[in-house]
Amino acid sequence: MSSIKVKPIKDLWAEFKVPGDKSISHRAAILAGLSNGVCRVDNFLPSEDCVCTLNAMSQLGAHHEVLESQEGYGPTSMNIHGRAMSLKAPEGSVDCGNSGTGMRLLAGMLAAQPFETILTGDDSLCSRPMGRIITPLAEMGASIKACGDKDGCAPLRISGGKLNSITYEMPVASAQVKSAVLLAGLFADGKTTVIQPSETRDHTERMLAYFQIRSVRDGDNISVYGGQVPESRDIRVPGDISSAAFWIVAAAVLPGAHLLVEDVGMNPTRTAILNVLIRMGAQIKDVVVSEEFGEPFGNVEVTGKAIHGTEIRPEEVPNLIDEIPILAVAGALSQGKMIIRNATELRVKESDRIATVCENLRAMGADVEEFEDGMEIHGGKPLHGAHLDSFGDHRIAMAFAIAGLFAQGETVIENTDCINTSYPGFADHLEAIKNGKSPS
Ligand code: S3P
Repeated sequence: MSSIKVKPIKDLWAEFKVPGDKSISHRAAILAGLSNGVCRVDNFLPSEDCVCTLNAMSQLGAHHEVLESQEGYGPTSMNIHGRAMSLKAPEGSVDCGNSGTGMRLLAGMLAAQPFETILTGDDSLCSRPMGRIITPLAEMGASIKACGDKDGCAPLRISGGKLNSITYEMPVASAQVKSAVLLAGLFADGKTTVIQPSETRDHTERMLAYFQIRSVRDGDNISVYGGQVPESRDIRVPGDISSAAFWIVAAAVLPGAHLLVEDVGMNPTRTAILNVLIRMGAQIKDVVVSEEFGEPFGNVEVTGKAIHGTEIRPEEVPNLIDEIPILAVAGALSQGKMIIRNATELRVKESDRIATVCENLRAMGADVEEFEDGMEIHGGKPLHGAHLDSFGDHRIAMAFAIAGLFAQGETVIENTDCINTSYPGFADHLEAIKNGKSPS
Protein backbone atom coordinates (compact mmCIF):
# COMPACT_ATOMS: atom_id res chain seq x y z
CA MET A 1 0.00 0.00 0.00
CA SER A 2 1.57 3.31 -0.97
CA SER A 3 1.86 6.54 0.98
CA ILE A 4 2.70 10.15 0.14
CA LYS A 5 5.10 12.36 2.10
CA VAL A 6 4.99 16.14 1.81
CA LYS A 7 6.88 19.08 3.26
CA PRO A 8 6.06 22.77 2.98
CA ILE A 9 6.74 24.56 -0.33
CA LYS A 10 7.85 28.17 -0.64
CA ASP A 11 6.75 28.82 -4.19
CA LEU A 12 4.75 27.33 -7.02
CA TRP A 13 5.08 28.06 -10.74
CA ALA A 14 3.44 25.56 -13.05
CA GLU A 15 1.67 25.34 -16.39
CA PHE A 16 0.22 21.95 -17.32
CA LYS A 17 -2.82 19.81 -18.11
CA VAL A 18 -4.64 17.44 -15.80
CA PRO A 19 -6.01 14.04 -16.95
CA GLY A 20 -9.41 13.65 -18.59
CA ASP A 21 -12.69 14.27 -16.81
CA LYS A 22 -13.98 11.30 -14.83
CA SER A 23 -17.71 11.99 -15.23
CA ILE A 24 -17.39 12.55 -18.98
CA SER A 25 -15.18 9.47 -19.49
CA HIS A 26 -17.78 7.18 -17.86
CA ARG A 27 -20.51 8.64 -20.05
CA ALA A 28 -18.36 8.40 -23.20
CA ALA A 29 -17.74 4.69 -22.58
CA ILE A 30 -21.46 4.04 -22.07
CA LEU A 31 -22.93 6.15 -24.88
CA ALA A 32 -20.28 5.13 -27.41
CA GLY A 33 -21.04 1.51 -26.52
CA LEU A 34 -24.76 2.10 -27.14
CA SER A 35 -24.21 4.00 -30.39
CA ASN A 36 -24.71 2.73 -33.92
CA GLY A 37 -21.05 2.64 -35.00
CA VAL A 38 -17.43 3.14 -34.05
CA CYS A 39 -16.53 6.09 -31.80
CA ARG A 40 -12.97 7.24 -31.19
CA VAL A 41 -12.56 8.57 -27.66
CA ASP A 42 -9.46 10.66 -26.88
CA ASN A 43 -8.14 11.89 -23.55
CA PHE A 44 -10.21 9.24 -21.77
CA LEU A 45 -9.34 9.16 -18.06
CA PRO A 46 -7.17 6.05 -17.60
CA SER A 47 -8.24 5.66 -13.96
CA GLU A 48 -9.47 2.50 -12.26
CA ASP A 49 -13.04 3.84 -12.06
CA CYS A 50 -13.33 4.64 -15.76
CA VAL A 51 -11.49 1.50 -16.86
CA CYS A 52 -14.08 -0.53 -14.90
CA THR A 53 -16.88 1.12 -16.91
CA LEU A 54 -15.01 0.61 -20.19
CA ASN A 55 -14.46 -3.06 -19.34
CA ALA A 56 -18.09 -3.43 -18.23
CA MET A 57 -19.18 -2.23 -21.68
CA SER A 58 -16.79 -4.74 -23.29
CA GLN A 59 -18.28 -7.51 -21.16
CA LEU A 60 -21.68 -6.43 -22.49
CA GLY A 61 -20.45 -6.74 -26.08
CA ALA A 62 -19.27 -3.17 -26.83
CA HIS A 63 -15.61 -3.94 -27.47
CA HIS A 64 -12.83 -1.39 -27.80
CA GLU A 65 -9.35 -1.29 -29.31
CA VAL A 66 -6.83 0.68 -27.34
CA LEU A 67 -5.00 3.28 -29.44
CA GLU A 68 -2.92 4.95 -26.69
CA SER A 69 -2.31 4.33 -23.01
CA GLN A 70 -0.73 6.12 -20.05
CA GLU A 71 2.17 3.98 -18.95
CA GLY A 72 1.42 2.15 -15.74
CA TYR A 73 -2.26 3.11 -15.86
CA GLY A 74 -5.04 2.52 -18.40
CA PRO A 75 -6.00 3.48 -21.94
CA THR A 76 -6.34 7.15 -22.91
CA SER A 77 -7.50 6.70 -26.54
CA MET A 78 -9.62 3.95 -27.98
CA ASN A 79 -12.13 3.01 -30.66
CA ILE A 80 -15.36 1.78 -29.06
CA HIS A 81 -17.61 -0.40 -31.19
CA GLY A 82 -21.21 0.50 -30.47
CA ARG A 83 -23.95 -2.15 -30.27
CA ALA A 84 -26.81 0.07 -31.49
CA MET A 85 -28.59 -0.28 -28.12
CA SER A 86 -28.51 -4.05 -28.18
CA LEU A 87 -26.15 -5.41 -25.54
CA LYS A 88 -25.31 -9.03 -24.81
CA ALA A 89 -25.57 -10.82 -21.48
CA PRO A 90 -22.22 -10.67 -19.63
CA GLU A 91 -20.31 -13.70 -18.53
CA GLY A 92 -19.98 -13.52 -14.76
CA SER A 93 -20.65 -10.47 -12.64
CA VAL A 94 -19.66 -6.94 -13.69
CA ASP A 95 -17.15 -5.22 -11.40
CA CYS A 96 -17.58 -1.46 -10.93
CA GLY A 97 -14.58 -1.19 -8.60
CA ASN A 98 -14.87 1.88 -6.39
CA SER A 99 -17.15 3.81 -8.70
CA GLY A 100 -20.60 5.00 -7.67
CA THR A 101 -20.99 6.75 -11.03
CA GLY A 102 -20.13 3.58 -12.95
CA MET A 103 -22.51 1.41 -10.95
CA ARG A 104 -25.45 3.81 -10.96
CA LEU A 105 -25.22 4.72 -14.66
CA LEU A 106 -24.71 1.12 -15.76
CA ALA A 107 -27.67 0.07 -13.60
CA GLY A 108 -29.90 2.53 -15.49
CA MET A 109 -28.87 1.05 -18.82
CA LEU A 110 -29.01 -2.57 -17.62
CA ALA A 111 -32.50 -2.14 -16.17
CA ALA A 112 -33.76 -2.28 -19.76
CA GLN A 113 -31.76 -5.30 -21.02
CA PRO A 114 -33.50 -8.64 -21.55
CA PHE A 115 -31.04 -10.52 -19.32
CA GLU A 116 -29.80 -10.63 -15.76
CA THR A 117 -26.68 -8.78 -14.64
CA ILE A 118 -24.94 -8.68 -11.28
CA LEU A 119 -23.14 -5.41 -10.57
CA THR A 120 -20.58 -5.54 -7.83
CA GLY A 121 -17.73 -3.43 -6.47
CA ASP A 122 -15.25 -2.97 -3.65
CA ASP A 123 -16.17 -2.70 0.05
CA SER A 124 -16.61 1.08 -0.12
CA LEU A 125 -18.94 0.88 -3.14
CA CYS A 126 -20.86 -2.02 -1.57
CA SER A 127 -21.67 0.18 1.42
CA ARG A 128 -23.06 3.13 -0.57
CA PRO A 129 -26.83 3.68 -0.99
CA MET A 130 -28.33 2.18 -4.15
CA GLY A 131 -32.00 2.60 -3.09
CA ARG A 132 -31.86 6.01 -4.77
CA ILE A 133 -31.62 4.36 -8.21
CA ILE A 134 -33.58 1.21 -7.39
CA THR A 135 -36.72 3.24 -6.54
CA PRO A 136 -37.12 5.03 -9.91
CA LEU A 137 -35.90 2.06 -11.98
CA ALA A 138 -38.38 -0.24 -10.21
CA GLU A 139 -41.09 2.31 -10.93
CA MET A 140 -40.15 1.96 -14.62
CA GLY A 141 -40.70 -1.79 -14.32
CA ALA A 142 -37.20 -3.15 -13.67
CA SER A 143 -36.51 -5.74 -11.06
CA ILE A 144 -33.40 -4.84 -9.05
CA LYS A 145 -32.41 -6.58 -5.85
CA ALA A 146 -29.81 -5.11 -3.52
CA CYS A 147 -28.01 -8.23 -2.26
CA GLY A 148 -25.32 -6.58 -0.11
CA ASP A 149 -24.70 -7.18 3.58
CA LYS A 150 -25.85 -3.63 4.19
CA ASP A 151 -29.46 -2.77 3.51
CA GLY A 152 -30.03 -1.23 0.06
CA CYS A 153 -26.44 -1.82 -1.02
CA ALA A 154 -24.62 -3.65 -3.85
CA PRO A 155 -24.09 -6.24 -5.23
CA LEU A 156 -27.13 -5.50 -7.37
CA ARG A 157 -28.98 -8.27 -9.19
CA ILE A 158 -30.68 -6.60 -12.14
CA SER A 159 -33.30 -8.53 -14.10
CA GLY A 160 -33.95 -6.11 -16.91
CA GLY A 161 -36.77 -5.95 -19.35
CA LYS A 162 -39.24 -3.68 -21.05
CA LEU A 163 -39.53 -0.33 -19.26
CA ASN A 164 -42.30 2.25 -18.95
CA SER A 165 -41.50 5.92 -19.14
CA ILE A 166 -42.01 7.86 -15.91
CA THR A 167 -41.78 11.35 -14.48
CA TYR A 168 -39.48 11.15 -11.51
CA GLU A 169 -38.98 13.87 -8.93
CA MET A 170 -35.57 13.23 -7.36
CA PRO A 171 -35.49 13.61 -3.58
CA VAL A 172 -31.71 14.32 -3.65
CA ALA A 173 -29.83 16.49 -6.12
CA SER A 174 -27.79 13.73 -7.77
CA ALA A 175 -26.41 13.68 -11.30
CA GLN A 176 -25.86 9.95 -10.96
CA VAL A 177 -29.54 9.28 -10.22
CA LYS A 178 -30.66 11.67 -12.96
CA SER A 179 -28.35 9.94 -15.44
CA ALA A 180 -29.46 6.43 -14.43
CA VAL A 181 -33.10 7.35 -15.09
CA LEU A 182 -32.32 9.13 -18.38
CA LEU A 183 -30.28 6.17 -19.64
CA ALA A 184 -33.13 3.81 -18.72
CA GLY A 185 -35.50 6.28 -20.41
CA LEU A 186 -33.61 5.83 -23.68
CA PHE A 187 -34.99 2.28 -23.78
CA ALA A 188 -38.50 3.04 -22.47
CA ASP A 189 -41.63 3.80 -24.46
CA GLY A 190 -42.40 7.51 -24.66
CA LYS A 191 -41.01 10.42 -22.70
CA THR A 192 -39.13 9.96 -19.42
CA THR A 193 -38.72 13.09 -17.30
CA VAL A 194 -36.47 13.70 -14.32
CA ILE A 195 -37.14 16.69 -12.08
CA GLN A 196 -34.08 17.75 -10.10
CA PRO A 197 -34.44 19.69 -6.83
CA SER A 198 -31.53 21.89 -7.90
CA GLU A 199 -29.05 21.94 -10.73
CA THR A 200 -26.59 19.03 -10.97
CA ARG A 201 -23.82 18.38 -13.49
CA ASP A 202 -25.36 18.08 -16.95
CA HIS A 203 -22.81 15.93 -18.81
CA THR A 204 -25.38 13.22 -19.61
CA GLU A 205 -27.80 15.68 -21.20
CA ARG A 206 -24.98 17.27 -23.18
CA MET A 207 -23.63 13.97 -24.39
CA LEU A 208 -27.09 12.68 -25.32
CA ALA A 209 -27.57 15.81 -27.46
CA TYR A 210 -24.08 15.37 -28.96
CA PHE A 211 -25.03 11.81 -29.95
CA GLN A 212 -28.15 13.28 -31.65
CA ILE A 213 -30.62 12.01 -29.08
CA ARG A 214 -33.78 14.11 -28.79
CA SER A 215 -34.07 15.39 -25.25
CA VAL A 216 -35.64 18.50 -23.71
CA ARG A 217 -34.59 20.72 -20.86
CA ASP A 218 -37.23 22.90 -19.26
CA GLY A 219 -35.78 24.49 -16.12
CA ASP A 220 -35.10 21.65 -13.71
CA ASN A 221 -37.12 19.14 -15.80
CA ILE A 222 -35.04 17.02 -18.15
CA SER A 223 -36.74 14.65 -20.57
CA VAL A 224 -35.58 12.03 -23.01
CA TYR A 225 -37.61 10.20 -25.65
CA GLY A 226 -37.22 6.43 -25.76
CA GLY A 227 -36.63 4.30 -28.81
CA GLN A 228 -33.73 6.31 -30.26
CA VAL A 229 -30.27 5.03 -31.15
CA PRO A 230 -27.26 7.30 -30.42
CA GLU A 231 -25.39 8.30 -33.61
CA SER A 232 -21.73 7.32 -33.29
CA ARG A 233 -19.44 10.33 -32.77
CA ASP A 234 -15.80 10.92 -31.89
CA ILE A 235 -15.13 12.60 -28.55
CA ARG A 236 -12.21 14.32 -26.90
CA VAL A 237 -12.64 14.48 -23.13
CA PRO A 238 -11.62 17.77 -21.46
CA GLY A 239 -9.30 17.83 -18.42
CA ASP A 240 -11.05 17.23 -15.10
CA ILE A 241 -11.73 20.43 -13.18
CA SER A 242 -12.16 18.35 -10.01
CA SER A 243 -8.54 17.18 -10.40
CA ALA A 244 -7.36 20.69 -11.33
CA ALA A 245 -9.03 21.94 -8.13
CA PHE A 246 -6.19 20.55 -5.97
CA TRP A 247 -3.59 22.69 -7.77
CA ILE A 248 -5.94 25.67 -8.10
CA VAL A 249 -6.31 25.77 -4.31
CA ALA A 250 -2.57 25.23 -3.75
CA ALA A 251 -1.76 28.21 -6.00
CA ALA A 252 -4.64 30.38 -4.74
CA VAL A 253 -3.46 30.31 -1.10
CA LEU A 254 0.27 30.83 -1.79
CA PRO A 255 1.17 34.51 -2.32
CA GLY A 256 3.18 34.95 -5.51
CA ALA A 257 2.28 31.54 -6.96
CA HIS A 258 1.50 31.18 -10.67
CA LEU A 259 -0.57 28.35 -12.11
CA LEU A 260 -2.02 27.79 -15.56
CA VAL A 261 -4.19 24.71 -16.13
CA GLU A 262 -4.95 24.28 -19.81
CA ASP A 263 -7.59 22.39 -21.73
CA VAL A 264 -9.77 21.77 -18.71
CA GLY A 265 -13.55 21.28 -18.70
CA MET A 266 -15.38 24.55 -18.04
CA ASN A 267 -18.91 23.21 -17.86
CA PRO A 268 -20.84 25.79 -15.76
CA THR A 269 -22.34 22.98 -13.65
CA ARG A 270 -18.78 22.12 -12.52
CA THR A 271 -17.10 25.50 -12.07
CA ALA A 272 -18.69 26.55 -8.75
CA ILE A 273 -15.30 25.85 -7.14
CA LEU A 274 -13.86 28.83 -9.07
CA ASN A 275 -16.74 31.13 -8.06
CA VAL A 276 -16.30 30.23 -4.39
CA LEU A 277 -12.53 30.74 -4.48
CA ILE A 278 -13.00 34.11 -6.21
CA ARG A 279 -15.47 35.05 -3.45
CA MET A 280 -12.72 34.09 -0.98
CA GLY A 281 -10.51 36.72 -2.61
CA ALA A 282 -8.56 34.40 -4.92
CA GLN A 283 -7.14 35.87 -8.11
CA ILE A 284 -8.41 33.53 -10.82
CA LYS A 285 -8.90 34.13 -14.54
CA ASP A 286 -10.87 31.49 -16.37
CA VAL A 287 -11.60 31.53 -20.06
CA VAL A 288 -13.57 29.22 -22.26
CA VAL A 289 -11.45 28.61 -25.35
CA SER A 290 -13.70 26.30 -27.34
CA GLU A 291 -16.90 24.32 -27.18
CA GLU A 292 -16.31 20.98 -28.81
CA PHE A 293 -17.86 17.56 -28.45
CA GLY A 294 -20.73 19.13 -26.48
CA GLU A 295 -18.58 20.48 -23.63
CA PRO A 296 -16.73 23.79 -23.06
CA PHE A 297 -12.93 23.58 -22.80
CA GLY A 298 -10.82 26.37 -21.29
CA ASN A 299 -7.86 27.56 -19.25
CA VAL A 300 -7.67 28.55 -15.59
CA GLU A 301 -4.94 30.92 -14.44
CA VAL A 302 -4.30 31.55 -10.75
CA THR A 303 -2.09 34.13 -9.06
CA GLY A 304 -1.57 33.39 -5.37
CA LYS A 305 -2.45 35.82 -2.58
CA ALA A 306 -3.88 35.71 0.95
CA ILE A 307 -7.54 34.68 0.90
CA HIS A 308 -10.40 34.59 3.43
CA GLY A 309 -13.25 32.22 4.33
CA THR A 310 -16.78 32.30 2.97
CA GLU A 311 -20.12 30.56 3.32
CA ILE A 312 -20.97 28.00 0.63
CA ARG A 313 -24.50 28.65 -0.68
CA PRO A 314 -26.98 25.73 -0.63
CA GLU A 315 -27.46 25.82 -4.40
CA GLU A 316 -23.69 25.66 -4.94
CA VAL A 317 -23.27 22.39 -3.05
CA PRO A 318 -24.22 19.88 -5.82
CA ASN A 319 -21.92 21.69 -8.25
CA LEU A 320 -18.85 21.49 -6.04
CA ILE A 321 -19.67 18.36 -4.06
CA ASP A 322 -16.40 16.64 -5.06
CA GLU A 323 -14.35 19.77 -4.29
CA ILE A 324 -15.53 20.19 -0.70
CA PRO A 325 -12.57 18.31 0.84
CA ILE A 326 -10.06 20.62 -0.90
CA LEU A 327 -12.26 23.68 -0.23
CA ALA A 328 -12.22 22.78 3.47
CA VAL A 329 -8.42 22.70 3.27
CA ALA A 330 -8.56 26.13 1.57
CA GLY A 331 -10.74 27.31 4.47
CA ALA A 332 -8.20 26.14 7.03
CA LEU A 333 -5.45 27.99 5.13
CA SER A 334 -7.48 31.24 4.90
CA GLN A 335 -8.33 33.94 7.42
CA GLY A 336 -11.79 33.99 8.99
CA LYS A 337 -14.68 31.56 8.90
CA MET A 338 -15.53 28.96 6.24
CA ILE A 339 -19.05 27.58 6.54
CA ILE A 340 -20.08 24.44 4.68
CA ARG A 341 -23.69 23.31 5.34
CA ASN A 342 -26.42 21.45 3.34
CA ALA A 343 -23.84 18.84 2.37
CA THR A 344 -25.15 15.66 4.05
CA GLU A 345 -24.50 13.88 0.71
CA LEU A 346 -20.79 13.99 1.61
CA ARG A 347 -21.49 11.31 4.22
CA VAL A 348 -22.24 8.75 1.47
CA LYS A 349 -19.31 9.36 -0.85
CA GLU A 350 -16.20 7.12 -1.08
CA SER A 351 -15.78 7.84 2.63
CA ASP A 352 -17.93 9.84 5.06
CA ARG A 353 -16.23 13.01 3.85
CA ILE A 354 -17.60 15.23 6.64
CA ALA A 355 -16.05 12.94 9.26
CA THR A 356 -12.81 12.23 7.39
CA VAL A 357 -12.13 15.87 6.48
CA CYS A 358 -12.82 17.03 10.06
CA GLU A 359 -10.64 14.27 11.55
CA ASN A 360 -7.67 15.05 9.30
CA LEU A 361 -7.99 18.82 9.65
CA ARG A 362 -8.03 18.47 13.44
CA ALA A 363 -4.99 16.18 13.33
CA MET A 364 -3.16 19.02 11.56
CA GLY A 365 -4.16 21.55 14.23
CA ALA A 366 -7.09 23.25 12.46
CA ASP A 367 -10.02 24.63 14.40
CA VAL A 368 -13.05 22.83 12.96
CA GLU A 369 -16.57 22.11 14.18
CA GLU A 370 -18.48 19.18 12.67
CA PHE A 371 -22.23 19.24 11.92
CA GLU A 372 -24.48 16.53 10.55
CA ASP A 373 -24.64 18.42 7.23
CA GLY A 374 -21.23 20.05 7.09
CA MET A 375 -18.59 21.88 9.07
CA GLU A 376 -17.37 25.29 10.16
CA ILE A 377 -13.67 26.02 9.95
CA HIS A 378 -12.03 28.89 11.79
CA GLY A 379 -9.15 29.54 9.44
CA GLY A 380 -5.77 31.08 10.02
CA LYS A 381 -4.44 28.68 12.68
CA PRO A 382 -1.07 27.40 11.42
CA LEU A 383 -1.26 23.76 10.35
CA HIS A 384 1.34 21.26 11.47
CA GLY A 385 2.46 18.08 9.74
CA ALA A 386 0.67 14.89 10.78
CA HIS A 387 0.40 11.19 10.02
CA LEU A 388 -2.94 10.85 8.23
CA ASP A 389 -5.10 8.17 6.64
CA SER A 390 -6.86 8.58 3.29
CA PHE A 391 -9.68 6.31 4.54
CA GLY A 392 -9.44 4.73 1.08
CA ASP A 393 -10.87 7.91 -0.44
CA HIS A 394 -8.97 9.47 -3.37
CA ARG A 395 -10.18 13.01 -2.75
CA ILE A 396 -9.21 12.87 0.93
CA ALA A 397 -5.74 11.59 0.00
CA MET A 398 -5.16 14.41 -2.51
CA ALA A 399 -6.74 17.19 -0.43
CA PHE A 400 -4.43 16.38 2.49
CA ALA A 401 -1.37 16.04 0.27
CA ILE A 402 -2.07 19.68 -0.66
CA ALA A 403 -2.64 20.63 3.00
CA GLY A 404 0.78 19.13 3.76
CA LEU A 405 2.40 21.61 1.34
CA PHE A 406 1.42 24.37 3.79
CA ALA A 407 1.91 22.62 7.16
CA GLN A 408 4.97 22.93 9.32
CA GLY A 409 7.08 19.76 9.29
CA GLU A 410 6.32 16.57 7.45
CA THR A 411 2.88 15.21 6.55
CA VAL A 412 2.43 11.56 5.65
CA ILE A 413 -0.75 10.30 4.03
CA GLU A 414 -1.16 6.55 4.18
CA ASN A 415 -3.20 4.35 1.90
CA THR A 416 -2.92 6.48 -1.24
CA ASP A 417 -3.41 3.80 -3.94
CA CYS A 418 -7.03 4.99 -4.10
CA ILE A 419 -5.82 8.11 -5.96
CA ASN A 420 -5.63 5.94 -9.09
CA THR A 421 -9.44 5.81 -9.15
CA SER A 422 -9.55 9.42 -10.37
CA TYR A 423 -6.10 10.96 -10.90
CA PRO A 424 -3.49 8.59 -12.32
CA GLY A 425 -0.15 10.38 -12.15
CA PHE A 426 -1.06 12.66 -9.22
CA ALA A 427 2.03 11.61 -7.25
CA ASP A 428 4.29 12.55 -10.21
CA HIS A 429 2.56 15.91 -10.58
CA LEU A 430 2.99 16.51 -6.85
CA GLU A 431 6.67 15.61 -7.04
CA ALA A 432 7.22 18.15 -9.85
CA ILE A 433 5.37 20.89 -7.92
CA LYS A 434 7.43 20.12 -4.77
CA ASN A 435 10.59 20.53 -6.88
CA GLY A 436 9.42 23.87 -8.28
CA LYS A 437 8.77 22.46 -11.76
CA SER A 438 5.79 22.20 -14.07
CA PRO A 439 4.43 18.65 -14.27
CA SER A 440 4.85 17.28 -17.79
C1 S3P B 1 -21.00 12.32 -10.54
C2 S3P B 1 -21.92 12.94 -9.76
C3 S3P B 1 -21.68 13.30 -8.35
C4 S3P B 1 -20.20 13.24 -7.99
C5 S3P B 1 -19.51 12.05 -8.56
C6 S3P B 1 -19.63 12.03 -10.07
C7 S3P B 1 -21.36 11.99 -11.93
O1 S3P B 1 -22.38 12.40 -7.52
O2 S3P B 1 -20.03 13.27 -6.59
O3 S3P B 1 -18.12 12.05 -8.23
O4 S3P B 1 -20.46 11.72 -12.75
O5 S3P B 1 -22.56 11.99 -12.24
P1 S3P B 1 -23.95 12.59 -7.19
O6 S3P B 1 -24.59 12.85 -8.46
O7 S3P B 1 -24.43 11.31 -6.59
O8 S3P B 1 -23.99 13.71 -6.20
